[in-house]
Amino acid sequence: MLDILAANRDGSVFSQVHEIDFDREYNPMVTFGRGIHACLGQQIARMELRVLWSTRLRRLPTVRLAVAPEEVPWRPDDTATFGPAHIPVTWE
Ligand code: HEM
Repeated sequence: MLDILAANRDGSVFSQVHEIDFDREYNPMVTFGRGIHACLGQQIARMELRVLWSTRLRRLPTVRLAVAPEEVPWRPDDTATFGPAHIPVTWE
């Protein structure tokens, strides 16, 4: 299995690989795969993400982590995907 997340953070392809940059002009990311097996649901996923982020930024502009980044609990490492178990946040 190829590590798509690592490919998206390839410093020889992307500038400031660890920054979220909504205005990134050159962005050949491979989050949804490429070619014949590229994700069939990517248009709905992109729409959901647009709604999520625009709503989130409009309703909770001050939201931020409620704990230090290293204290965010991660799911066990024995799955094909990984990520936080949950993300404690706070806002004014
Ligand atoms: C953020 C959300 C999503 C991500 C990151 C994602 C990512 C991917 C990736 C990496 C692949 C594999 C491409 C490959 O094998 O080379 C894939 C395949 C696929 N995805 Fe998604 N996906 C997402 C959401 C969805 C949704 C919402 C649907 C359906 C409504 C969907 C349906 C599919 C299908 C059917 C395939 C298989 C395509 C094939 O093998 O021909 N995905 N997706």
